[in-house]
Amino acid sequence: MQLFTVPAIATAETPPAAAIASAHPLATAAGIEILNAGGNAFDAAVAVSAALAVVEPGSSGLGGGGFWLLHRDSDGHQIMIDGRERAPQAATPALFIGPDGTVLRERLMDGPLAAAIPGVPAALDHLARHYGRLPLSRSLAPAIRLARDGFAADDKLTAMIRFRLDALRRSPAAAALFLVNDGPPAPGHIIRQHDLADTLQQLAQHGRDGFYRGPVARRLLDGVRAAGGIWQDSDLQHYQVVERAPLHGVYRGIKITAAPPPSSGGIGLLTMLNILSRYDLDRLPEATRIHLISEAMRRAYRDRAQYLGDPDFVAMPVERLIDADHAAAVAASIHLDRATRSTELPEVAPTTAGDGPDTSHFSILDRDGNRVAATLSINYPFGAAFVAPGTGVVLNDELDDFVIQPGTRIGYGLGGGAANLIQGGKRPLSSMTPTFVESDHQLAILGTPGGSRIISMVVLATLQLAAGQQAAAVVAAGRYHHQFLPDVISHEPGAIAPGVAATLQGLGHQLEATSRPYGNMQLILWDRRQRRVEAASDPRGIGAATVIPAIAATKP
Ligand code: DON
Repeated sequence: MQLFTVPAIATAETPPAAAIASAHPLATAAGIEILNAGGNAFDAAVAVSAALAVVEPGSSGLGGGGFWLLHRDSDGHQIMIDGRERAPQAATPALFIGPDGTVLRERLMDGPLAAAIPGVPAALDHLARHYGRLPLSRSLAPAIRLARDGFAADDKLTAMIRFRLDALRRSPAAAALFLVNDGPPAPGHIIRQHDLADTLQQLAQHGRDGFYRGPVARRLLDGVRAAGGIWQDSDLQHYQVVERAPLHGVYRGIKITAAPPPSSGGIGLLTMLNILSRYDLDRLPEATRIHLISEAMRRAYRDRAQYLGDPDFVAMPVERLIDADHAAAVAASIHLDRATRSTELPEVAPTTAGDGPDTSHFSILDRDGNRVAATLSINYPFGAAFVAPGTGVVLNDELDDFVIQPGTRIGYGLGGGAANLIQGGKRPLSSMTPTFVESDHQLAILGTPGGSRIISMVVLATLQLAAGQQAAAVVAAGRYHHQFLPDVISHEPGAIAPGVAATLQGLGHQLEATSRPYGNMQLILWDRRQRRVEAASDPRGIGAATVIPAIAATKP
């Protein structure tokens, strides 16, 4: 006999609204335009990715790579499109080691030698052909328009140009696009990119062959080789995206869907959550909570350095790393009353801190329940700061995400071993963490840029979502990070209250405030019970989150 009436819970099979959150208002608008033209979330993802290439040229673009985590609601199909860059075949450690045996970091950061073979153009073609409703030419139209008509440089972009000024000056085609009188443009300056519009047009007309073969490929190869790069025709022709099965895990009944290798993000996220599920975090004092979260981060980042690389080249114990037994084993060394020293854990590699001021994430939900979480990168601001003449394409410097010599630090101060050693054709290990977080009544689509800090930001956001926080609060929350080495909790200024900091120091943690806030999280939260869709763009950036109600987003 039923003693109590179960309260009626309003659940919606499909979201009552579509939403896009991206790092630039014009990119969000491009995606909304495509949804309103009858496109689905995957068409909108093509439009947003391409528009970001135009209006956030220092953060991602056709010359870079990314991961697009997809959910197709009609059949529940979930997949990650791995459009990560691949090292050119001629890449070897020796190219990046000086006569004295030290790693030549500048070769991995500036100029075309640092550039891996881009994956974004192939990924956009793949998305449109296999998942979209609209032709690639339609979804690329807003980006082509933005490239031809121009857009106003914003403060963030001009600051990035200033930061990379010396390197940009060394690439005449980059300088012609982004510098005014050999210096950064003033905010508001209109940046027009006719060559990039033509390159996008080639992609629109010919699909992937419009980029990896034909005139664009010729210009890329000529430009790269004339400036000391090592790309070959076959590197471009053989580039392939890979569809990879996402990783799944459960944290306190909440289902996590996350990026598999060659991202370290999903493994890191799930390892940390598995460790943390052993504690009742919400009942613990703030200092103890930050202590335990930092200890979980320390251990997962150690695993990253030890084990992870490109799954097409190295065998990795992925299932073991994300299971509860592994979490129990690594959590056994966590003490509630003192910080572990990273040197107490088995050694991997010495590292120092790094900062990550660019890369781009966007999140999309359409009214059919399709979802995209995508994180795209050219690595450092303006990547290799090199544009091949006649292409408008800013090349990545993603080779800096590889290990050149096991034991020496790499980009973002991360450590690493043989699994992530540079090799021709290999994908560099990434921290990009596009993620879905799903409880019985809520679905979140999220991710952020931020170099090595990406994974820890997504962990903090997941814990906040699990605690019932709203989208706007999650993207605005203060952030902290531990990456095994250096052995410090780095934190945004003001993110840890002075009293809490003192307690953490008393436990033996070293704390270090970052010089500025970091991350640029884009989050969509669909509450099925309340039939509400919220979208939030990180207040640290200039992004825009738009929710379009049912009527504007009807199918054709
Ligand atoms: O794939 C990675 O892990 C890096 N290339 C991401 C770089 C990044 O997020 C830069 N900035 N915020």
